[in-house]
Amino acid sequence: MKTHKIAVIAGDGIGPEVINEGVKVLRQVAKLDNSFEFEFTYFPWGCEYYQKTGKMMDDDGLEKLKKFDAIFLGAVGAPGVPDHISLWDLLLKIRKGCDQYINLRPVKLLNGAPTPLKDVKTSDIDMLFVRENSEGEYAGSGSWLFKDKPNEVVIQDGVFSRKGCERVIRYAYEIAKKQSKTLTSISKANALNYSMVFWDQIFKEVGKDYPEVKTYSYLVDAASMFMVKDPKRFEIVVTSNLFGDILTDLGAAISGGMGLAAGANLNPEREFPSMFEPIHGSAPDIAGKGIANPLATVWSASQLLDFFGYEKWGETLIDCIEQVLVEKKVLTPDLGGTASTQQVGDEVINKLTTMLKSNN
Ligand code: NAD
Ligand code: IPM
Ligand code: MN
Repeated sequence: MKTHKIAVIAGDGIGPEVINEGVKVLRQVAKLDNSFEFEFTYFPWGCEYYQKTGKMMDDDGLEKLKKFDAIFLGAVGAPGVPDHISLWDLLLKIRKGCDQYINLRPVKLLNGAPTPLKDVKTSDIDMLFVRENSEGEYAGSGSWLFKDKPNEVVIQDGVFSRKGCERVIRYAYEIAKKQSKTLTSISKANALNYSMVFWDQIFKEVGKDYPEVKTYSYLVDAASMFMVKDPKRFEIVVTSNLFGDILTDLGAAISGGMGLAAGANLNPEREFPSMFEPIHGSAPDIAGKGIANPLATVWSASQLLDFFGYEKWGETLIDCIEQVLVEKKVLTPDLGGTASTQQVGDEVINKLTTMLKSNN
């Protein structure tokens, strides 16, 4: 029996509510498969921990995490703790400390999922964002001079290294090649005359190794317009850290909402654990009510299964999510239902079990 060791950071707000369902579903998959198991270890890190200890995670937190095969994270952030502290000392610290330089975010309209766009088929919204996840606008480089003085100045640098750009762009080309899909780069070289000119140059350079991949290059403002007006233009998309953050919330909005948007933070070399999480935040407006949609977390569990090589199970979980959406009997309020977080988790498990029975 193969054992996969997973560190669970449930975090804040709706984080623990949705992660419970994700863990429940992963346990059920392992039980049904019977050739592997998950060993979950919970870490109490987050804003409550910060309020008690003054720290978002233990000082040796990264060392602790590096012993695991993967990290499963709920959400981080709570009123009362400044967001730049809670996120930089936990989520971003892990992404950077574990060199999770690829952020894979599917933007895919499943059957049964609502979209505010008119006249689109499910096949029209089927993208995979490959977001740079280690540097760029999120490098954390800058300074705050003459703080609180009339001549106050703040500087936030974008840091785009050749290594950082090349590795994410190459990763995206590889996916496009493997899946015979087009690759779109999204940047902003007309205004960002150093960083994005460099990004575009590297996109072209790396592309020489992939003559079979059809490419497009859009400015980010036009790209956001096209995502709404003509989403089928996009298949595999590669973009910078900040643009990827913003465009994937837009992606969520056109493909069922925040409750359905998942992400995988990958260290492709597997030198460090990768981290799987819904892309939404801690949603303080609905936290504690038991109505958060756990399907984004289940989707990220499916990405975890893919990463461990259980692609068949990954696919099965997406099929289960799709069935729940199509039937519309057990959905949380964000999708127009009246079910609780837990009921939706249970329904995914029902679907898993019946799907398996009908396949045997
Ligand atoms: P948010 O994603 O938490 O919420 C935005 C809106 O989407 C809210 O109305 C919320 O109720 C809704 N929503 C989000 N997830 C949902 C779900 N699963 N089911 C139903 N509705 C859902 O974004 P925000 O309000 O801008 O941020 C809240 C906090 O979360 C902040 O502290 C922010 O820094 C943090 N944050 C953390 C992460 C993360 O941990 N990965 C991501 C984004 C924001
Ligand atoms: C996300 C989040 C994070 C990001 C924040 C919380 C730092 O918005 O995962 O999309 O910007 O990457
Ligand atoms: Mn975001």
